[in-house]
Amino acid sequence: MSNSRGSSHLRIPATARFLPKISPFSIAVYITLLFAFTIFVFIFSTKEILEDEQKPLFSEESQSQQDNEYVILLILQMTDDQLWEAPFSHGFHPCVKPTSRYKDTQEWDRYITVRSNGGLNQMRTGVLLLDGISDMVAVARIMNATLVIPQLDKRSFWQDSSMFSDIFDELHFITALQGDVRIVKELPKELESVPRARKHFSSWSGVNYYEEMTRLWKDYQVIHVAKSDSRLANNDLPLDIQRLRCRALYYALRFSLPIENLGKKLVERLRSRGGRYIALHLRYEKDMLSFTGCTYGLTDAEAEELRIMRENTNHWKMKKINSTEQRMGGFCPLTPKEVGIFLQALGYHSSTLIYIAAGEIYGGSSHLLELTSRFPNLVFKETVATPKELKAFVNHASKTAALDYIVSIGSDVFIPSHSGNMARAVEGHRRFLGHHKTITPDRKGLVEVFEKLERGELKEGSSLSSLVTKMHERRLGAPRKRGSSLPGIKGRGRFKTEESFYENPYPECICTSKNMFR
Ligand SMILES: *[C@@H]1O[C@H](CO)[C@@H](O)[C@H](O)[C@H]1NC(C)=O
Ligand SMILES: *[C@@H]1O[C@H](CO)[C@@H](O)[C@H](O)[C@H]1NC(C)=O
Repeated sequence: MSNSRGSSHLRIPATARFLPKISPFSIAVYITLLFAFTIFVFIFSTKEILEDEQKPLFSEESQSQQDNEYVILLILQMTDDQLWEAPFSHGFHPCVKPTSRYKDTQEWDRYITVRSNGGLNQMRTGVLLLDGISDMVAVARIMNATLVIPQLDKRSFWQDSSMFSDIFDELHFITALQGDVRIVKELPKELESVPRARKHFSSWSGVNYYEEMTRLWKDYQVIHVAKSDSRLANNDLPLDIQRLRCRALYYALRFSLPIENLGKKLVERLRSRGGRYIALHLRYEKDMLSFTGCTYGLTDAEAEELRIMRENTNHWKMKKINSTEQRMGGFCPLTPKEVGIFLQALGYHSSTLIYIAAGEIYGGSSHLLELTSRFPNLVFKETVATPKELKAFVNHASKTAALDYIVSIGSDVFIPSHSGNMARAVEGHRRFLGHHKTITPDRKGLVEVFEKLERGELKEGSSLSSLVTKMHERRLGAPRKRGSSLPGIKGRGRFKTEESFYENPYPECICTSKNMFR
């Protein structure tokens, strides 16, 4: 589908020669083609363009028929647009207003304090517990409590001294949720020394669980939640609670002014450079690879270094990992080389501007080279912002993650090389804002393709391109209802296989014209 590949057999000069030769006949042909083109545009923008619908057009022997070539050229142009444009989502819009049953909050004199930790696996990089914080807002609402501004965990792994107010606009957070939950900056002085109930809420719990937990108020005035990653259930919560989660995440949690300003500047600079850009969440950081045990493509020394790191990180429970099995199962982040093959196969031109949203890439330029060789127009926050601008961000992983979040939200296309909180939150936010394009690699399927390439059973080019395009036809971020749990999984395990609420807040927070009055 790429332009370069397409034009190589299209002999553009012939087409160019065709254009200036204006005769009544060619005008008639031109008008007919324009009409045909309009219909094409209509059809293609109504449905998702399907690779097999295109194929006959391409395989048709053009016999150097100039008008035919002209049509094909137009279509190629269009598919190039399609690489960038948001999936068809006409009539979908955000809907987060409470229902008529929803009551304003009261001034509860009991408090929930939260320590917002670095996620389940406490990665050093890419930590931004937006979803965890939003869930705590909803929990405070369910439990009729006042929420104290979460404390960000500053322990060893996060290595970031940022406070909530460094990352978020604290005042806005408090006022935006005024009618939902009372939020205060600190626990009242007189309650600082009273005994607190310390709870690790169990994950994926629904309203019943938290209502039951209100029995703690009989004995305590303060509940301390030691981890904010015990998520609420994704599904089967009251509509008003789901919408509150959306209001918290998409409206109340706004980044602090310095972050917001620099983030906007970066987006503007990227736009002025290339017009359109891809934000690539390239999870190829040391801790990510060590944690997942993915050593494919690394040297023995690197693999050993990662193994030792995993061995020595106490809170990572999995110690012995078979890298091959991980990769075959689709549990590994794509390598820079794999991302390059993937993007090229999807049809992106080598001149495409790509912003790398990530921490430090493991092995630095040695591994990155395999991506830059295909896509030299690769940029990082360090190359888009000046050192002076980034000064306040150095050694603040959560602030830089926030920058990456803003640039990812502002991109034309977002592609995560691995799943994770941040990737999920960005995808969901983009859906919420109008189903902006997010391409989620089918890692398991792709690994099979990469293996075939390696064994020489498949070559890069048009067949790879159509294979990969077809594989991702339904992974472009088009509107669809949130996925339920995988079949055949019983008990609590099934909650884990559900699609995350924040990855796709449809239907609760995204409505079509039909259900907007719900
Ligand atoms: C919270 O307060 C409201 C209004 O007073 C009450 O109807 C509701 O039952 C309370 N919820 C819990 C879980 O106590
Ligand atoms: C890892 O798994 C693969 C595939 O199951 C197997 O062939 C290989 O021997 C395993 N490697 C080790 C070190 O156990």
